Amino acid sequence: MIVAIDGPSGTGKSSTSKAVAAKLGLSYLDTGAQYRAITWWMLTNGIDVDDAAAVADAAGKPVIVSGTDPSHPTITVDGVDASGPIRTQEVTAKVSAVSAVPEVRARITGLQRSIAAAAPHGIVVEGRDIGTTVLPDADLKIFLTASPEARAARRAGELKGADVSATRDALIKRDTADSTRKTSPLAKAEDAVEVDTTELTLQQVVECVVTLVEEKRAVA
Ligand code: DC
Repeated sequence: MIVAIDGPSGTGKSSTSKAVAAKLGLSYLDTGAQYRAITWWMLTNGIDVDDAAAVADAAGKPVIVSGTDPSHPTITVDGVDASGPIRTQEVTAKVSAVSAVPEVRARITGLQRSIAAAAPHGIVVEGRDIGTTVLPDADLKIFLTASPEARAARRAGELKGADVSATRDALIKRDTADSTRKTSPLAKAEDAVEVDTTELTLQQVVECVVTLVEEKRAVA
């Protein structure tokens, strides 16, 4: 069972994906964390992340390893735990530029496909292009949406005390960059089920996705 969960920032992808995977005994992969990890490696190794040619040259260098336990997801870069540093504002501000570079996408997409193929009982993979590009044959594709206000309020809550309108502007900027890039942009696959989470609690979204997985399992 391969479940692809895509959508813009702040729609609840990570919380939903982890909870669904834990409930159904599936592995879990946060692909945004992989793009953040390669961005962090570039920043700490003095690569000019606004120079696409330099980013492309370095794309194959870092060794990125993702742990796929939904109750304890991990990520290391060259053996170093990167789970804290990949969430800094500096990485968040630069990750769209790095993830737009085709060589970066090819490298990370390859990692994602091999992780999904190795998952013993199936996997929930969250990202932006999972249903369209990475795993187009996924058994179930979900596209989460929410109003910009709801997304900004959730993200500002996570960042504890961040200004909601500044968070909203930063989110919209990142989503615009992610959906307008040339290589595998953020997009809803034609056969994805769209779930608007604006008025839903996390528990309601999780129940909705679990029901959709169970329906797929019943007909398989
Ligand atoms: O989900 P996130 O906010 O941690 O993702 C960080 C960035 O990574 C996001 O702005 C776009 C990029 N990304 C991507 O291009 N493709 C994916 N499958 C996942 C994330």
